[in-house]
Amino acid sequence: MDTPRIRHPARPDAEFVVVANRLPVHLESRGTDSPRWRRSPGGLVSALEPILHARRGAWVGWAGTTESIPAAFPDQGLRLHPVPLDVDEHRDYYEGFSNATLWPLFHDVVAPPDFDRAWWRSYHRVNQRFAEHAAAIAGPGATVWIQDYQLTLVPALLRALRPDVRIGFFLHIPFPPPELFLQLPWRTEIVEGLLGADLVGFQLPGDAQNFLQLVRRLRGGESVSRPHGTPVLGAVRLPGREVRVGAFPISVDAADLEELARSEAVQEQARRIRRRLGDGRRIMLSVDRLDYTKGIDQRLRAFEEILADGRVSARDTVLVQIATPSRERVEHYRRLRTRVEAQVGRINGVFGQVGRVPVHYLHTTVDRAELTAFYRAADVMLVTPLRDGMNLVAKEFVAARPDLDGSLVLSEFAGAAHELTEALLVNPHHLAELQDAMVTALHLDEGERRLRMRELRRHVRERDVHHWARSFLTVLAGAGPGSLPADSDEAPPRASVA
Ligand code: ADP
Ligand code: F6P
Repeated sequence: MDTPRIRHPARPDAEFVVVANRLPVHLESRGTDSPRWRRSPGGLVSALEPILHARRGAWVGWAGTTESIPAAFPDQGLRLHPVPLDVDEHRDYYEGFSNATLWPLFHDVVAPPDFDRAWWRSYHRVNQRFAEHAAAIAGPGATVWIQDYQLTLVPALLRALRPDVRIGFFLHIPFPPPELFLQLPWRTEIVEGLLGADLVGFQLPGDAQNFLQLVRRLRGGESVSRPHGTPVLGAVRLPGREVRVGAFPISVDAADLEELARSEAVQEQARRIRRRLGDGRRIMLSVDRLDYTKGIDQRLRAFEEILADGRVSARDTVLVQIATPSRERVEHYRRLRTRVEAQVGRINGVFGQVGRVPVHYLHTTVDRAELTAFYRAADVMLVTPLRDGMNLVAKEFVAARPDLDGSLVLSEFAGAAHELTEALLVNPHHLAELQDAMVTALHLDEGERRLRMRELRRHVRERDVHHWARSFLTVLAGAGPGSLPADSDEAPPRASVA
């Protein structure tokens, strides 16, 4: 990343503050090379970056290093405020409680979560630090938007420091049914942490309903008011205020991606990709963080079996799997990588020839233009997570296909399936169904591909990431200090600036 450096400003006057575990860039050190700035991985950064650019807000987050905080950051037109993490906190708060407790628990326990008191203590301490940083830079009456499962305690901790600010929280991942959530030894603390917000947003109505049901179980049915209708599905009454709860499906910057996809450079790169993979071969593409929730090993197994059955041939079909390295020291991630790499080796060993392998596996992050060229080059996009809050890759693929070509195979268990109903929807746990969908997608006739893609694109264009941010922030603007429901006799607390 070759952008000019800026020193980070620490003015306490930001009107709009995003608080997320990561800043949009992180410092990566590889071996003996000097560290370099990279774009941070994941859907949260992809979605929030254009929003922050448009509003010139401030972004509070971790800079991706446990060394001392960098004195200067790449200038991206944003105000970046780094929160330090030391080595123990990275292990206990980030790898431990966030990614080995909450992540698997919230993804329907597709891997067993670990419960560890030391991790919890670290999570609490780090959430307190994020709250203090946000409190220090938010101007009087500012809007503070807290993101994702790493920071569930921040809303209440921030409210205690700064009752004058308007607080929103958005969860990017699924919210589990109460029976699963209630396993968590610190369930009450997390729910109370979230209830520090004025608005708690989820991806889907089902997630919001799970949360409201849980609040009923933990605080009594009378604490939850009747549903208002989408996007606000209910509200939790607390002394002196209420917390709105709603569903706001996140999306991508569709116009921006489309423009990139239409550029001559990207189209040329797409043609180059097709040539290099073998002209005339049909390309199936998958793009994921290397995460066990993404269904990568199930997908490879499905592909291996249709090669073995002769339903597809390595002569005319190729699968490209691009996998961003992710959470590499966490046990389940290490094991997944070993499994995936063994599968790729086996498939290529059995079905490949010199100069022609059936699976191209790239364990790397690629830049936006190259990724968009891959989307344009693909005949079939396979997005088959076992569980996913939304999955922006599916929406990015659609946005990058103004040519109306390409077929999307999409898991029913991705949040995106609730909107992208013209995709070929599959249950990724059902191997035979997944295989049928792969074969069907490869043979869809042009008319049907165009019909489906036109509808998918209409949806992604209408409900883009700006629509998402607008709808969340509009509801948030009407919530918070002074917004008690008409039938309440409680007085709101007096706003004061810490
Ligand atoms: P998650 O937030 O769980 O990672 P999403 O599908 O919602 O899943 O978002 C992933 C984001 O990361 C997308 O914006 C996608 O373009 C990006 N991404 C995924 N894999 C790669 C990769 N190998 N190289 C570059 N970007 C990637
Ligand atoms: O949306 C899911 C998410 O966990 C984000 O919160 C996060 O920024 C992204 O995926 C990438 O994960 P990590 O920050 O652990 O690399």
